[in-house]
Amino acid sequence: AFDPELGGKDFDEVLVKFFCEEFAQKYKLDVRSKPRALVRLYQECEKLKKLMSANSSDLPLNIECFMNDIDVSGKLNRAKFEEFCAELLAKVEAPLRSIMEQTRLKKDDIYAVEIMGGASRIPAIKERISKFFGTELSTTLNADEAVARGCALQCAILSPAFKVREFSITEVVPYPISLKWTSAADEGISDCEVFPKNHAAPFSKVLTFYRREPFSLEAYYNNPKELPYPDPTMGQFNIQKVVPQPSGESSKVKVKVRVNVHGVFSVSSASLVEVVKSAEGEEPMETDTPAKEDENKMQVDQEVQKAQGDDQKEHADKKSDTEDMEASEDNKQEEKKNEPPQAKKAKVKTKTVDLPIENSLHWQLASETLNLLVENEGKMIMQDKLEKERNDAKNYVEEYVYEMRDKLHGVLENFVSEADRDSFSLKLEDTENWLYEEGEDQQKQVYIDKLAELKKLGEPIQNRLMEAEERPKALNELGRQIQQYMKVVGAYKAKDELYDHLDELEVMKVEKQVNETMTWMNNKMNLQSKQSLSQDPVVKAQEIQAKTKELYSACNHVVTKPKPKVEPPKEETPAEQNGPVNGQEGSEAQAGNPEKGQAAPENTEAKLPEMDID
Ligand SMILES: *[C@@H]1O[C@H](CO)[C@@H](O)[C@H](O)[C@H]1NC(C)=O
Ligand SMILES: *[C@@H]1O[C@H](CO)[C@@H](O)[C@H](O)[C@H]1NC(C)=O
Repeated sequence: AFDPELGGKDFDEVLVKFFCEEFAQKYKLDVRSKPRALVRLYQECEKLKKLMSANSSDLPLNIECFMNDIDVSGKLNRAKFEEFCAELLAKVEAPLRSIMEQTRLKKDDIYAVEIMGGASRIPAIKERISKFFGTELSTTLNADEAVARGCALQCAILSPAFKVREFSITEVVPYPISLKWTSAADEGISDCEVFPKNHAAPFSKVLTFYRREPFSLEAYYNNPKELPYPDPTMGQFNIQKVVPQPSGESSKVKVKVRVNVHGVFSVSSASLVEVVKSAEGEEPMETDTPAKEDENKMQVDQEVQKAQGDDQKEHADKKSDTEDMEASEDNKQEEKKNEPPQAKKAKVKTKTVDLPIENSLHWQLASETLNLLVENEGKMIMQDKLEKERNDAKNYVEEYVYEMRDKLHGVLENFVSEADRDSFSLKLEDTENWLYEEGEDQQKQVYIDKLAELKKLGEPIQNRLMEAEERPKALNELGRQIQQYMKVVGAYKAKDELYDHLDELEVMKVEKQVNETMTWMNNKMNLQSKQSLSQDPVVKAQEIQAKTKELYSACNHVVTKPKPKVEPPKEETPAEQNGPVNGQEGSEAQAGNPEKGQAAPENTEAKLPEMDID
């Protein structure tokens, strides 16, 4: 992490360079002229790199149709790879040594060395790190996910939506930050390092200036050599509306500089301390009056707040920096209150006035530019969505072609005439070819239309199969019902006691309906039996189901009409009131009706079960 040019992609780069040269020689290909080919080469090289970490023998790299329809292949082994990477590998030790120096730790102080990041799998890197620390390396973290997990944890800590167990992380300022300004007195330039390297962050500091007029501060990284960026300037902060004291003397201006929780530096606030004449009308006088001091002098008051406290408060409150700053102000006031009272005789009163700060940050985008980029991002998201839909539409066509081609010679074979099957097969084949040619890159609607065109041919065939599967089930159900009603009609005609309460006219209606339905069913079955499977059926399962429902509605309520209770001779058996009519062990048997009791089992069979056609 301490060397920006020592990551996994730098090793990929070495491989890409090698294969670009090799393919130029072997196949006369200029890989770098074709971005698409180059991207594929990067992907393959990354894979090869991973393989080489696990296997030291010669390993192949093959890419089909790489460029200009040419298949390419090459090979490499770990030993050669390490040779090519010698320069990179030599860089491993420097950051390790540097971190030991910066932390002032000795190797003995290190308890364990945990490595992470994809590149930490490269054996040559592991070897060097292990050798440096003189210890075995620990790999208890997922090398690829460790960073992402850490980021996720940090996000959760910062988010107001998550509660995270107490977790202490001290961030540091990676590159020292200085301020410089034109001094008021001798027109020279002064500067001051406000955040040295590895200073804890987030952290605020208050600087005190003595000025009569607005002034500006320039923030910059004071060690451009270690900065991974060519320009060390951060930006200009203009402290505005600075005025002299009524007495004409310089005003005390307090400027707060801050590195926030995101590591971003800013001059976050400025205020002018105005001396107000006391009520007694005495001369204003501050104990630490600056009047005669050199105006170049600047005091740096370190915030009493420690970084840790600052950090925790931010996390605990999940509040913005602004509120944090207010809290700091409170702290300062407290500081003042704590001063011995005699040091600040009641003679002098001060008033603090906030001053506006104008920023001109060096690398911050202008808001129009930023808006434009955000807008562009939105457009690209839309584009991605459309592209996905387009791809999906294309895939549906492809899937349908494959599915139908299979089924036409499988489950659907009997449900289509030979002539239709041949022409449909041809159509599917044409579509497949089309997909690889002019159909490769079409608008979404073109694919939707294409699919509809195919389905117009395929769906009737699939429907015939579906009907052939559903028809017997529907016919069975209808037949079962016809049988049941016929049985009741028969029993009624045979004067079965069970049904002698039914209305004759209604039973006749049932018989008629049953007869009609049976005629309808027999007729359909007869016609259907002469029909080939490849023809559309004479009756659809749905029609049969509708017929069944119709029959049920007409007949069920007639034949299930409950038998009225026969008043028992004397006793009042409460259970009788709503006891079952034909209960096998119903109260009737006990109520002294032995015939019925005996008839019950037989009747149960004859009895119509409650049917639920729906
Ligand atoms: C290493 O790769 C070679 C070539 O693909 C293969 O033959 C060999 O079995 C591999 N060795 C191991 C240990 O995986
Ligand atoms: C129903 O059909 C049976 C047998 O075919 C017949 O005897 C009976 O008269 C018919 N009933 C009605 C109401 O059509």
